[in-house]
Amino acid sequence: MNLTDDEKAMLDGHDGAAKRKAMELLVRYSEALGAERFVDTNNVAGVPGSSTLFLKNYYKDHNGGNYEAIFSLFDLDSDEVVPVPKVSAYSCHLQGGMDPNEWATMGQTKEAFEHFQEDEAQVADHGIQIMKTCTPYLAGNVPVKGEHCAWMESSAVVFCNSVIGGRTNTEGRESTSAAMLTGKIPDWGFHRDEFRHGTHAIEVEVPIETVQDWGMLGYFVGGAVEENIPVISGVTYQPNLVRHKHFGAAAASSGGVELYHMVGITPEAPSREIAFGPRNPVETIKYGAAERRKIYDNLNSIGTSTDVDFVMLGCPHYSIEQIWEAARLLDGKKLSPNTKLWIFTSRSVKSMADTNGYTKAIRDAGGLLLTDTCSAISQAIPKGTKVVALDSAKQTHYLPAFMGIEAWFGTTKECVDAAVTGHWRGELR
Ligand code: F3S
Repeated sequence: MNLTDDEKAMLDGHDGAAKRKAMELLVRYSEALGAERFVDTNNVAGVPGSSTLFLKNYYKDHNGGNYEAIFSLFDLDSDEVVPVPKVSAYSCHLQGGMDPNEWATMGQTKEAFEHFQEDEAQVADHGIQIMKTCTPYLAGNVPVKGEHCAWMESSAVVFCNSVIGGRTNTEGRESTSAAMLTGKIPDWGFHRDEFRHGTHAIEVEVPIETVQDWGMLGYFVGGAVEENIPVISGVTYQPNLVRHKHFGAAAASSGGVELYHMVGITPEAPSREIAFGPRNPVETIKYGAAERRKIYDNLNSIGTSTDVDFVMLGCPHYSIEQIWEAARLLDGKKLSPNTKLWIFTSRSVKSMADTNGYTKAIRDAGGLLLTDTCSAISQAIPKGTKVVALDSAKQTHYLPAFMGIEAWFGTTKECVDAAVTGHWRGELR
């Protein structure tokens, strides 16, 4: 690899043992990828430290499994515990495992919650922002076009690359923790122009308007192109942030889409020719009425009972606009006694919801606005849940499989209706 003087100094241990371990890890990672150099990054989003009781107990023979031990042995893949300094790059902590106030409702133990608090204090002490969300771009971390980032979380990565034009691969816990200390990440993949051109053409032949429409299109595109780069044409409706959020999250879960282009919409696709660059599309795939119907039926293939006992909204974490919409849909209503409603968002967006009275409106109806996590990540659902209703294709992909429950996929309005009536009455419109 071609290393700069500051990179050599870190690798030689001039900046301490932790940075040396971090550089060693990043060099091994670069060599495996075939990267010849690093890029500087000052925007890292990961999940450093201990966070779960499992890791704490696993490393309990090393400093009691504290933050430093887990950061050294697990994050940095070191064979010894080293002193961990504050981070050098601007860094934030993505989603965690429980809501800090409703942990008992989510079925967590006091021991797990106390560990969660200790870990969070350590993360903050090391200079890492506690965002606790899969949507950092809704909580104040908004990169600019061309900015080199090192992000985890597939839904955030695809948003950063596609909607903003930022540059990140889907990093892991180890590479993000190492990047937090060093401000370096391999110059490979989506950091480089030649990796960012489209591979597959998607021709949309039906109107795509609602959030549900965008989620279904994303789910179709991910399944069709897998880990490639789709270029979507034929969209006649300008998607807003929420629609991009649901489209990208769905495409990243049914496939492994990390970057998409929409002709005339996303920043690197002012035209079809520019989106594809020197490449010719390897395949042209159409999305018409039959494909739309098939995706809807696929997402609803695991629902049989129409008695809904749980409604989960907020995957990816809800924006303030979506919370406002949910609060309006619940206005003057009460949840069915047989149904629970959990809506997930970040702490910062919840504070806006608190200020605007939306949290209270949701509570008054019998629902909860929760933060930090989601049902899939924390594997937490209300006790006895057999049937869930969801407005997210991504959550529909994961939650029933993780928890062994049935699921319905529909619009936010249909989900709120299910929470109020206790019954699923959704259909494709
Ligand atoms: Fe976020 Fe959970 Fe969905 S972490 S993207 S709400 S699976």
